[in-house]
Amino acid sequence: MAAPALADAPAAARAADTTPVNQTPPVNQTHSRLIYFSSASENTSRFIGKLGADAARIPLHTKDEPLVACEPFVLVVPTYGGTGGEGSVPKQVIRFLNNPDNRRLLRGVIGAGNTNFGDNYCMAGDIIAAKCKVPHLYKFELMGTPEDVSRVQKGLEEFWTRLSQTQK
Ligand SMILES: Cc1cc2nc3c(=O)[nH]c(=O)nc-3n(C[C@H](O)[C@H](O)[C@H](O)COP(=O)(O)O)c2cc1C
Repeated sequence: MAAPALADAPAAARAADTTPVNQTPPVNQTHSRLIYFSSASENTSRFIGKLGADAARIPLHTKDEPLVACEPFVLVVPTYGGTGGEGSVPKQVIRFLNNPDNRRLLRGVIGAGNTNFGDNYCMAGDIIAAKCKVPHLYKFELMGTPEDVSRVQKGLEEFWTRLSQTQK
């Protein structure tokens, strides 16, 4: 028996036929040297705003286009720990770092947190630094003080200069 003509195929099958074979899901590519995560409380986002540097934000929601780094970058990450520090790295940041291209371009981490959490202060930065073998460059509380802002501005400038001299 002859195969049914396309016009006879169920509507869903016909729709599938028109989908490009090699279509990749959309991503948000960034050339920023500073990439950060901030939850709905926006503390880290405020700190980043005060730096006055170009920065890209890791999306909060899974439905948002994932962020993909195109240049070496420093990650700024707040800690969200449970008991005993588990779950300290926000799941959005884990998802971002699960992309091997993003991990390969990570050069350092800056941790944000709250000293009320004692030994778990900025633990997400410690965990990422250890796992990805990059330096934990700085820690700051909540949205940072003016001193944190100027130290991070100066520190990042020196960090990138040093890196450009050593990584030819
Ligand atoms: C549920 C919860 C757990 C937290 N756990 C930690 C922690 O383990 N260590 C730490 O240093 N800060 C902890 N913090 C503080 C946050 O890291 C801090 O408020 C940070 O500025 C949040 O940044 P964001 O507003 O940009 O998301 C926690 C905050 C919340 C709400």
